Amino acid sequence: MDNTRPATNALEKGPAPGGLRQSKFALFCKRHKFIVIPIAIMILLLPLLGLLALRTHHAHGMNYTSPVVYPSPQGYGAGNWSAAYERAAAVVANMSLEEMNNVTLGVIDGSNGCVGVSGSAPRYGYPGLCLHDAGNGVRNTDGVNGYASGLHIGASWNATLAYERAQFMGAEFRRKGVNVALGPVVGPIGRIAEGGRNWEAFGADPYLDGILGAQSVIGLQESVIASVKHFVAYEQETNRNPISTNSDTILSTSANLDDQTMHELYLWPFQDLIYAGAGCVMCSYNRVNSTYACENSKSINGLLKGELNFQGFVVSDWVGQHSGIPSADAGLDLAMPTSTYWSERQLEQAVNTGAMNMTRLVDMATRILATFYQFGQDEALPLGVGMPPNLLLPHNYTDAKDAASRPNLLQQAIEGHVLVKNINGALPLSKPKVISIFGNDAIVQTAFNPDGQLFPQSWDFVGLGLPQAMNIASNTPVQDPPQVKNGTLVVGGGSGSNTPAYINSPYDSIQARAYDDDTALFFDFTSTTPNVVASSDASIVIINEYASEVWDRPGLADARSDQLVTNVASACNNTIVVIHNAGIRLVDAWIENPNVTAVLYAHLPGQDAGRALVQILYGDVSPSGRLPYTVAKQASDYGDLLGPCQNAKNSLSPQCDFGEGPNVDYRSFLARNVTPRFAFGEGLTYSSFDYSDLQVSVNATATANDTISAPVYANGTMNGNRNNANIGVGGLQSLFEIAGTVEATLTNAGTVAAAEVAQLYLQIPTTYSNSSNKVTRVLRGFQKVMVQPNTTARVSFNLRTKDLSSWDVVRQAWVVPSGEFEVFIGKSVLNTPLSGSFVT
Ligand code: BGC
Repeated sequence: MDNTRPATNALEKGPAPGGLRQSKFALFCKRHKFIVIPIAIMILLLPLLGLLALRTHHAHGMNYTSPVVYPSPQGYGAGNWSAAYERAAAVVANMSLEEMNNVTLGVIDGSNGCVGVSGSAPRYGYPGLCLHDAGNGVRNTDGVNGYASGLHIGASWNATLAYERAQFMGAEFRRKGVNVALGPVVGPIGRIAEGGRNWEAFGADPYLDGILGAQSVIGLQESVIASVKHFVAYEQETNRNPISTNSDTILSTSANLDDQTMHELYLWPFQDLIYAGAGCVMCSYNRVNSTYACENSKSINGLLKGELNFQGFVVSDWVGQHSGIPSADAGLDLAMPTSTYWSERQLEQAVNTGAMNMTRLVDMATRILATFYQFGQDEALPLGVGMPPNLLLPHNYTDAKDAASRPNLLQQAIEGHVLVKNINGALPLSKPKVISIFGNDAIVQTAFNPDGQLFPQSWDFVGLGLPQAMNIASNTPVQDPPQVKNGTLVVGGGSGSNTPAYINSPYDSIQARAYDDDTALFFDFTSTTPNVVASSDASIVIINEYASEVWDRPGLADARSDQLVTNVASACNNTIVVIHNAGIRLVDAWIENPNVTAVLYAHLPGQDAGRALVQILYGDVSPSGRLPYTVAKQASDYGDLLGPCQNAKNSLSPQCDFGEGPNVDYRSFLARNVTPRFAFGEGLTYSSFDYSDLQVSVNATATANDTISAPVYANGTMNGNRNNANIGVGGLQSLFEIAGTVEATLTNAGTVAAAEVAQLYLQIPTTYSNSSNKVTRVLRGFQKVMVQPNTTARVSFNLRTKDLSSWDVVRQAWVVPSGEFEVFIGKSVLNTPLSGSFVT
């Protein structure tokens, strides 16, 4: 029916009140149409501009609310999930509501060492799941390897290594009876330099996290289900959990961010990991735009299950569930380690009373069981079989280690070392006559003979006394992290900590090499003012920088270690500094001292720390790591992104505005025009590389001005994705199509074989930046290649459509902006010898 007709007719029927004014107005309009029409268009557009302004200024304060997105999209067996869904649906169809309710929450088991066990459905042969930490190896048990940490693998820039590491790690989880490995970590991404958990993820860039995280998912899931965490925008430990006082509760901090920042930064790596097939996602402790992440319908229903079409299940971080039916409706599928909200059959009752839709409960149970079948967990060992609840009591020893993992563990350890200074030919060492070694990190802990708490994540063990433990409980930084007691730092603290059967320290391996070379060794592992034997060819100072879950770091360098370096350097003109660092470590106190001749960031190498270090120090291999974060000249150079948001006004609702938008780490330095000490991507080798012959073949078409409507995701429908052929697991499949390639030639111009990490950065045209934050260059490719001296290697980077896209908040779609894309290839974000461009 044409609704406009009667109105038109009515107007035609003689003058209405005000009719004369109307006709004068019409006359005026006719005469001045060149002025009137543009004004009218502007008036019509005003609401839209207002909307845009709201979205843009969202990041700069005021009112942060997370939109609601209901109902929760149902999993339906997209892509290769169909068989698993069929099996799960057949089982769930016969389940009672009570049984369905039971599989959606953790149960206190106590018969094994799993950090969580979920409810079972014995009638159907479903035993529940053993969920266990974490992304750097099996935690808190015996008979397992200590892998290099996420940040160390990030520093390796080696996707194949990440995949193989995860394969070995996944097999260990499976041998221990774990079904869900609680990793890898791609959030926190590293928004703040002092973040306590930055070392668990791969680096402060979404592309790097996405590529290495996806490979980790694929490797792990050959044996177990990977639980990708922490979803989403979980960037600080301070105020991560609610704190109850006598009368009030201080809520978790709210990460306040706009839609573009969400897509281009925090959601970005999750999409790659979902596309890689991740079976589980852990929602985080923080609030996102005022709503807890585990009951945030926008992020779970809207982004994860809608836009990314995630088919697995969402598990809460431990005690991260803060509501009953709202969390279920928002998309939470499994509450761990148990639930006060669901454990009294509340979901069953809610369905019976109509307070909750039954399809949601069916979907929860189906997602969990489908994931169980999808990854062959119906053929797994009994839950937690290799992990006794108490390691200190006699138990059957399950050796989960595979001898075949050894070369890979060593390779991991080697490749995450980043050499940032090397003058006067300090490294590699060549049969030195005398070496002096200093620093508490050179040796393992003086005792590893537990009588209570076994592993480093225990506060007792790392030397945190009661006052500090109280600080931990109130989420404030620990003022005096336990640098000394750790000895050689091979992993950070908390649930991401792993528990190697042995640790090889730097001193162990240097000593073995000293025997081969007939080198005299002097050492002092305790003093900060040691004697330095004058005849030393080199002094090696080995220090560390600790970080842990639960607290953010009080600073980016510890004065005691800095003092040691300065003191040794004042007595030795060939002082080599090695830092085992669980995050960014500043070096301003001594880096310009000419007696400090070499500096290695040794990160967190896992159990083979010493063996790997010696191979690099002595030039058996050239260092091949690159920084996965930016090292500033001084702490203040990080600006607002130095430390966590504090709850300054002691409010009950702490806020953290992500006003920088997507510009964290190197993007922040570029946007603010601050020169770092060491740039993102930087790292030296024992050789030198020339770059040449850039070839850019990208044939992408701009979609920024397309008039066709944006892809319709399942937002607000239960199964809208099912009928959309363009959407598969991971979301819009065309985002992953190759839009072009960029190639370059590397020449090893030095005298030794070395691996170079060629990096591709894009400067995307600003057409579709919705935020007021500057658009900077971004990492969009990397490739690590071993090149023999005087030979060349051709590197080739595939650019996916995703890599060329910006998020358009109005159309709610990824668009390829139109304009000139600048292409940079080089050794770091700031050192790019080749540049070119393409136009869309
Ligand atoms: C951590 C998670 C971890 C879980 C289980 C939480 O405190 O945030 O990363 O997987 O505990 O240990």
